[in-house]
Amino acid sequence: MYPIIAPSLLSANFLDLKKDIIMLNKSTADWFHIDVMDGVFVPNISFGFSIIKQIALLAEKPLDVHLMIVDPDRYIENFKNAGAHWLSVQYEACTHLHRTVGRIKSNDMKAGVVLNPHTPVTVLEDVISDLDLVLLMSVNPGFGGQSFIENTYNKIANLKELIERKNAQALIQIDGGVNASNASKLVNAGAQVLVAGNYVFGAPDPHKAIQKLKDI
Ligand code: DX5
Ligand code: ZN
Repeated sequence: MYPIIAPSLLSANFLDLKKDIIMLNKSTADWFHIDVMDGVFVPNISFGFSIIKQIALLAEKPLDVHLMIVDPDRYIENFKNAGAHWLSVQYEACTHLHRTVGRIKSNDMKAGVVLNPHTPVTVLEDVISDLDLVLLMSVNPGFGGQSFIENTYNKIANLKELIERKNAQALIQIDGGVNASNASKLVNAGAQVLVAGNYVFGAPDPHKAIQKLKDI
């Protein structure tokens, strides 16, 4: 079952998205990772509801939506209507995180919280038991194809300790610079969900690249 593999569509071919979605349907990938960027929280803009709705029509696996936007509360219902199964918000963008998480869950989605590389795991102490997933960013969010930040391994260990101590159920997801060289160390450290963009869509054979991560 683990690791769950979630290829990031940010690195897909937007001129032929259908082909990449069908490829992922046929592959051993588990989820579709969808990166939503608003040009304010991160210095990049990606795509919004209409594209996600189209993806949902074809995708045969859960949509794991990662919001890199300010004030995500405004759009929770919109993402549910667009077809999101998992909805993750950036800790740094939420003033009332506990309420945001509750609203995601009351809209029948799984709730995730994302920590930027500089945000310590300790900030989740009082909310971890409410979460279905914690995403540790292993690059600064905004772009695909960046290099992996090594301190992520320490953060996984800290997060694992917190989850066990609180008897919580949250999955540990890693996003940014994941590839076949660091994946086994990540999984051994406690990662359960691996996001990979450039590594999958930049590979000569994306099926093989996904399977390599899956075999870890
Ligand atoms: C970065 C996004 C990532 C990105 C990962 O802001 O959250 O999901 O697409 O891409 P790679 O795997 O290429 O680092
Ligand atoms: Zn992401």
